[in-house]
Amino acid sequence: MGRRTAPPPISWLMQTALSRPQLISLAAGFTDNATLPVEISRKLLSRVLRSPRTGRPALQYGITAGETNLRRLTAQHLQKLDLGVTPYRRHKNQGQRHAAPPTHLSDRVMITGGSQQLLYMTLEALCDEGDIVLVEDPTYFVFLSILQSRGLRARSVRLERDGLDLAHLETILQRLKKSGELRRLKALYLISYFQNPTGVTTSFEKKRGVLKLLKKFERAAGHLIYLLEDAAYRELSFSGRADLPASQDARQRVPAIPPSALMVPGAAERVIYTGTYSKPYAPGVRVGFGLLPEPLFTAVQRIKGNHDFGTANLLQQLLASALETGLYDRHVAKIEKRYGQKALVMKRALAKHFPPNVEIWEAGGGLYFWARLPKNVPTGVKSKIFQTALKNDVLYVPGELCYADDPARKKPDHEMRISFGSASEKNIREGIKRLGLVLRKLL
Ligand SMILES: Cc1ncc(COP(=O)(O)O)c(C=O)c1O
Repeated sequence: MGRRTAPPPISWLMQTALSRPQLISLAAGFTDNATLPVEISRKLLSRVLRSPRTGRPALQYGITAGETNLRRLTAQHLQKLDLGVTPYRRHKNQGQRHAAPPTHLSDRVMITGGSQQLLYMTLEALCDEGDIVLVEDPTYFVFLSILQSRGLRARSVRLERDGLDLAHLETILQRLKKSGELRRLKALYLISYFQNPTGVTTSFEKKRGVLKLLKKFERAAGHLIYLLEDAAYRELSFSGRADLPASQDARQRVPAIPPSALMVPGAAERVIYTGTYSKPYAPGVRVGFGLLPEPLFTAVQRIKGNHDFGTANLLQQLLASALETGLYDRHVAKIEKRYGQKALVMKRALAKHFPPNVEIWEAGGGLYFWARLPKNVPTGVKSKIFQTALKNDVLYVPGELCYADDPARKKPDHEMRISFGSASEKNIREGIKRLGLVLRKLL
């Protein structure tokens, strides 16, 4: 495996961004620096370390699946995201801080070192070398690196503006059945909210449709085919927020985003849900979570026992404290507005500086816009556009990195992912201007 593993593009992109201070990076998925919760974290860490309930446990090893209180709070958080309310009555004697434990749910919650660890462990648990995973076309390039490293095969399902092309999914499943390879198919990986890299959000109808199709082919596969729902950007939803007056409760005026696939009736046993506190809170804290059905929960828990036997307790206590005090929700409301504003700045700069024959997929959340150049204009690492952009100190993610190796189609190489996450508003304007100049010159 060591010999096979190719250098992950993520490391090179991050290294380039960090080692050239004059470079404006619209590439890596870093979050907004200015709003990182420094003050909140200082206060919360002090609270955690002062309390006899949390102080020593925070500095001790913990439980493999995660700290009990954070698992419960995470289960509650997930239910709130799906149902819009906290559905649990408080325990009579436990006061404000402890909602009645949604036992069945928190038992299946696992806390991990970023959701990246959970994605990795899930593939470790499910797949043998040569197995097949379905992915969106395009998809998250670090996920593709895991597949490459573990000797897994990807089959890509076309992506439409509201999620997967269901007819194409059915065709692929039929083809796998016909070729006798369906038994090698283990899961479909879906980034369901403000997808990385395209910004697409999958409608609830499509989630229902995907699960129906997977179920239909399970008998021929001889096992469950899991839906691995990655909701990393779910809480960065901002459409319309930038224009709201500060006094408005932003959350109330925004169109609802679809519930997770967990809400599709009968789906629970075949949905693996992964989420993260990195994007909404802080990537430096790097705590992710997931909800896994049995028998997968137990398998992944054992694997995590071998990886690290538990995520850092201090970080878990910090997040538990942020959730308990409501500071987490307040912070999310704040950054949603901030990202809304930055996305607006990028949208305006794109309209001003990019040539009109570049198609822009504008996101209503997340961190990325997706730009599609004419099909015959390459944007890859070796292309003239990428190299000239780099010379002019602006970096983007070449679209080709986000496409799986799939023998059924040629890899598109005429797109770019541009992020408004970490750059300041000034740098977004300047970066898009530089990129626009390169494009106008070379197109
Ligand atoms: C789609 C997607 N999933 C998962 C992750 C991993 O995030 P983390 O490990 O910080 O939770 C990322 C990070 O950029 C991502 O873009």
